[in-house]
Amino acid sequence: MTEKVAVVTGAARGIGLAIAQKFLATGYRVALLDYDAETLAQTAEALREQAMLAVECDVSNPTQVQAAIERVVAHFGRIDALVNNAGVAVFKPALETTFEDWSNVMATNLNGPFLCTQACVPVMLKSGGGSVVNIASISGVRASTLRIAYGTSKAALMHLTKQQAVEYGNAGIRVNAVAPGPVETAMAAQVHSADIRTSYRDAIPLARYGTPEEIAEAVAFLCSAAASFINGQILAVDGGFDAAGVGLPSLRDAVADPSISV
Ligand SMILES: NC(=O)c1ccc[n+]([C@@H]2O[C@H](COP(=O)([O-])OP(=O)(O)OC[C@H]3O[C@@H](n4cnc5c(N)ncnc54)[C@H](O)[C@@H]3O)[C@@H](O)[C@H]2O)c1
Repeated sequence: MTEKVAVVTGAARGIGLAIAQKFLATGYRVALLDYDAETLAQTAEALREQAMLAVECDVSNPTQVQAAIERVVAHFGRIDALVNNAGVAVFKPALETTFEDWSNVMATNLNGPFLCTQACVPVMLKSGGGSVVNIASISGVRASTLRIAYGTSKAALMHLTKQQAVEYGNAGIRVNAVAPGPVETAMAAQVHSADIRTSYRDAIPLARYGTPEEIAEAVAFLCSAAASFINGQILAVDGGFDAAGVGLPSLRDAVADPSISV
């Protein structure tokens, strides 16, 4: 078989699952990596008719990552795309963020993409190259309260993306990042209070959360031949949140409602 192979981390649910499903729908064979064995087993059962392999793996653990990628290669024989999607969020004031919170967030959100990319690149090179997409966040683009660990991990991931793009580019491996705005998932349910939800809607020009499928579309594009000259970029998929700058809701309302003069 020569169909392309994608590895998606954190694929048991949420954005990672939508990315895995998008790859399956476009003819890739897909390895789903996740450390949540129970949810991964349920997902694997739901996708059992498809060309997929579920591998339990904690992306922050170098031994587990190496073993997981070896399993993927033994099963599928090649790797063409890697999506470093597994992530964890801790939202706490800076002074309440323990060193353990900080270390756990960095271990998954930053060490994970470093380790998984390092494990996959030699395999990609054997078939002439590939594409890596790191799932960052608008929290790595714009600072906010409560995200000292999460926001810093995602900003670092965006720079890791550029380092990897520069180093692997001339070997035929493109590395880009997608920076989602708020997306309706279990993670968002855990860390977004009702107040935060209302404020997000006010701050985002499209006035809504994104869907996992909208993030998956951007990832699929970056891994496709249509993006063959795109390398080292951060693509915000955020309804215009990053672009808004002084995007005060009252200023936008004034444009939306002609009866309000500015
Ligand atoms: N949901 C949002 O609003 C949002 C916004 C911006 C960025 N993101 C990013 O998108 C990615 C996916 O987020 P989501 O909302 O789907 O989250 P989610 O919590 O619903 O899913 C994350 C998945 O990653 C897995 N995971 C976590 N740590 C892992 C580890 N160490 N090893 C292996 N698997 C691990 C979890 O088990 C889970 O299945 C994350 O990187 C997140 O930071 C999410």
